[in-house]
Amino acid sequence: MATTVAPQMQNSVSEFVAKPRKMLIGGKWVDSVSGKSFETYNPATGEILARVAEADKADIDLAVKAARRAFESGPWPEMSPSERGRLLWKLAELVDKYHEELAELETLDNGKPVFFSRIVDIPTVSDAFRYYAGWATKVEGSTIPISAPDAKYLAYTLREPIGVVGQIIPWNFPLVMASMKLGPALAVGCTCVLKPAEQTPLSALRLGELIMEAGFPDGVVNIVPGFGETAGAALAAHSDVDKVAFTGSTEVGKLVLNAASGNLKKVSLELGGKSPNVVLQDADLESAIPASATAIFFNQGEVCAAGSRLFAHKSIFDKVVGGVADVAKSFKIGPGIDPASNMGPLVSKEQQERVCSYLESGAKDGAKAVVGGKRVNGPGYFVEPTVLVDVKPTMKVVREEIFGPVVTAIPFGDLDEVAGFANDSIYGLASAVWTRDISKAHLLAKKLKAGTVWINCYHVFDSALPFGGYKQSGWGREWGKPALDLYTEAKSVCARL
Ligand code: NAI
Ligand code: MG
Repeated sequence: MATTVAPQMQNSVSEFVAKPRKMLIGGKWVDSVSGKSFETYNPATGEILARVAEADKADIDLAVKAARRAFESGPWPEMSPSERGRLLWKLAELVDKYHEELAELETLDNGKPVFFSRIVDIPTVSDAFRYYAGWATKVEGSTIPISAPDAKYLAYTLREPIGVVGQIIPWNFPLVMASMKLGPALAVGCTCVLKPAEQTPLSALRLGELIMEAGFPDGVVNIVPGFGETAGAALAAHSDVDKVAFTGSTEVGKLVLNAASGNLKKVSLELGGKSPNVVLQDADLESAIPASATAIFFNQGEVCAAGSRLFAHKSIFDKVVGGVADVAKSFKIGPGIDPASNMGPLVSKEQQERVCSYLESGAKDGAKAVVGGKRVNGPGYFVEPTVLVDVKPTMKVVREEIFGPVVTAIPFGDLDEVAGFANDSIYGLASAVWTRDISKAHLLAKKLKAGTVWINCYHVFDSALPFGGYKQSGWGREWGKPALDLYTEAKSVCARL
């Protein structure tokens, strides 16, 4: 198929994208029931990258049936926690073994610089599987002393897998998102139907091959690429799915929630953000400035936790804004597969249009671009890294998630003022504070209504560190121990002695 690829790309990657990809249901690679397929595009060129079987309602139904069978009978429910842990560990090793291939595939499909796929995405995936491999043997209930007067009782709780889970993921970190959903679910013994984003299904499909190679029983993981309104909606609504985990836009999060109400399946949501990055007067600007640039420009700004609202104390505002703009000017924008690029294209034409319409709205409202402000001409879905000043808290560019390389910068006077600015959002996913004053750092950390507060750092993620949102940034916490709760039910057992 037509795609312009760098000569150094692995043969296995060219072969993988050249062949029409099928979906994984019940341990078999199958075409869609309708026979339909769809194309994915290389965002660096706009050319067709691969053709993929297109799941719709009927395929989702088959996948859920396969997951139900695997949950209720066969080898999976008989497996010990230790055996489940070993399978997850094996999967982590396979991800490491095929590290370069997966990194290149991720970059071709998503657009991100291959340097980052290599050092961030793929290592995060194997780390997630290893981390949750360890949890498989450590999910415990407790014994509970109860005080009923009439007799003696032994009471305890069990944590049991919730059942068949539907997992709907986005395109910004395709394989990381798959691992953070599959890892905890498999550790506790659930079975999964994973729907990758239509823009970036390829790495999840390659992961499906590795899942089978690791030796997971048929039907434990089913991977069904397709569109949101069809495959995604059918999965969220399916009456035999016990839980749905979603990452994506707040708008679709609400649709998933409504769809889930039919059988009251459990729901967890990791949604949008408009995260404040606060630089106080006494901050170490040598680290705060480059990190504030990374906070917004990493992954082309397509990060739910991106530091998209920069607040700098008025005494250092010009210096911080100028410094972040200088970093933006230094970027080498180009195809992600070119090792020299450190900023790639946005994921799709649609996302490029969306981000550019925000740039136009900002300009119309009177915002000024210190750097950037428009799309990059030519093929591919590139947008210039942009710093906007002269913005007001009421403007759309300040209020809404742009999900691109665009930061708004606002000066402030004191802690209370900036806490007010920072919390003036429907979102509450992440935030950061830069200061040398430990007291101010922790005072502000307490005031910020966000699921994560970074102090003198940004974008620090770890499999062990819970992540999720206040307000309309979502429900529940993924990563770490709390993710296990999302995939288990608690059962109280009470015996009269
Ligand atoms: P989206 O929320 O539409 O897509 C995310 C996932 O949900 C995809 O797998 C999609 O197929 C699925 N989906 C879409 N409609 C669905 C439905 N009705 N029922 C079930 N599943 C459905 O995100 P989109 O349109 O790709 O991007 C729009 C905006 O969403 C972005 O500009 C950004 O602001 C936000 N977003 C946030 C992400 C995050 O990590 N929190 C990730 C991706 C997008
Ligand atoms: Mg959408």
